[in-house]
Amino acid sequence: MYVLRTNADLEPWRADTAWVAFVPTMGALHEGHESLIRQAAAAARGHPGGACLVSIFVNPTQFNDPADLARYPRTIENDLECCRRSGADAIYVPGPEDIYPPGESIPIPPLPDVAILPQLEDSHRPGHFAGVCQVVLRLLRLARPHEALFGEKDWQQFRVIDAMVESLGLPIRVVPIPTMRESDGLAMSSRNRFLSPAERRRAASLALALEGAARLTDPGQAQRHMADVLTQAGATIEYAVVREARSLMPISPGTFVPGATPRRALIAARIGSVRLIDNAPWPASLAGA
Ligand code: PAF
Repeated sequence: MYVLRTNADLEPWRADTAWVAFVPTMGALHEGHESLIRQAAAAARGHPGGACLVSIFVNPTQFNDPADLARYPRTIENDLECCRRSGADAIYVPGPEDIYPPGESIPIPPLPDVAILPQLEDSHRPGHFAGVCQVVLRLLRLARPHEALFGEKDWQQFRVIDAMVESLGLPIRVVPIPTMRESDGLAMSSRNRFLSPAERRRAASLALALEGAARLTDPGQAQRHMADVLTQAGATIEYAVVREARSLMPISPGTFVPGATPRRALIAARIGSVRLIDNAPWPASLAGA
């Protein structure tokens, strides 16, 4: 596995590689990332001269809370091992000067509508998707992949990046990869390590709420159910909603037609001081629709 530490390392590797599946990350890799990397590596094996590239860069511009950036886990030795084990061919670990060169302004692309919807991430993390789009576009321009893989746990992020790539006409397939879960359903996340043992038990309420909501076919009832389960677990709810899966626009309760369009239930909630997000297809009878 090549370890590419600068753009000067990346460029010749990229020029020599016929086809690239790319997994951008901020490190602190866990089994969820391993699944992304394994699937990228499998896709690369299907193309002559194909390779799986993973990037690790903790992007300061997407953190609206400096304390959150400061405590973001840095685990580079484990990350390298995880990439190796999962079949990555190269890992790109740039410094800030490679991504945001001094004196150069790295553009923030126009934000797709799905990034700035009321009630979802933008209301709670203003500026977050501007930072995500800025760094992802920069990485895509440097790595020039054919496919880029993103975890479904960050469903809105996946939709934002997919819409950005489409609106800019970039020749890249944006591929969503299903969420990996712990045995009690908790979605794997770099933030789970910050939960105390008691909080860790309560954190399972997000998956439980989604599971219960998926059995209901009225969006209003599903939202109330999620709110009840999360409140009982002592979570502080930021949102617990059912939305149209692609646009993430609200569904008005009276107009819901089962089977009409894929929908998704989405949650952001704090357990203690740890902010967790999760989502699932809704209702269950349409999962995979
Ligand atoms: O999902 C993440 O880890 C980050 O938001 C990403 C896509 C790597 C951009 O920094």
